[in-house]
Amino acid sequence: MAEQTQDGGKRRAGRYAADLVEEGMMVGLGTGSTVLYAMERLVERMDEGLSLCGVPTSYQAELRARAFGIPQTSLADCCELDIAIDGADQVDRSLRLIKGRGAAQTRERCIAEAARRLVIVVDERKLIGTFSAPVPVEVLPFAVPLVASRLTGMGGSPVIREGVAKDGPVITDNGNWVIDCTFPSIDDPEALETAINTLPGVLSCGLFCEFAGKTTVVIGGKKGIRTLHTEM
Ligand code: A5P
Repeated sequence: MAEQTQDGGKRRAGRYAADLVEEGMMVGLGTGSTVLYAMERLVERMDEGLSLCGVPTSYQAELRARAFGIPQTSLADCCELDIAIDGADQVDRSLRLIKGRGAAQTRERCIAEAARRLVIVVDERKLIGTFSAPVPVEVLPFAVPLVASRLTGMGGSPVIREGVAKDGPVITDNGNWVIDCTFPSIDDPEALETAINTLPGVLSCGLFCEFAGKTTVVIGGKKGIRTLHTEM
């Protein structure tokens, strides 16, 4: 029952976000279960005549876009996007995010950077006061012991992410490994993000603080949606 309620919230958020897409837009296509609902709605709107072009954040998004018949291109061919729709693992009230449960945070960060507007779709469980989720960190395999040691030095507890239907470490879409790092508390997410992202060997961590100014968070609840924006 709880799962059905969450799915209802995800569905409402995803569909609302897809309705923000306008004719001819270049659209960043995020990764995860909530964005799937947005893609389903985009297909309905394409059937009604909407034209758009997607730029996927992962192999998952690319495969889904292909299966749905959503036209797509890559960041290499288009690096100015009108909008990106993506999910998150946790969102705080300053519109900072933890992403990367699906190990896609490095490409998701590139797409977020390229987009004029970032629309984050979540169910209401994801809105929190203080971050508590582990921070995923994509790391060059060569540098995993070094990065794990530095994360421990920052007070974190790093764990190499293991595959579910694969023995050994998860390999990302970029050929790297993922460390999930739990911190006893995250009091200054901006500082932690910078400290992790500047470690040699790190591609990107899942803390996203710098996009808050162009972010809309769409929160799907039991009955409807609400949105959060930064006051400009
Ligand atoms: C992918 O790496 C993640 O950043 C996802 O965007 C995030 O985990 C949200 O996924 P769900 O919508 O499935 O919760």
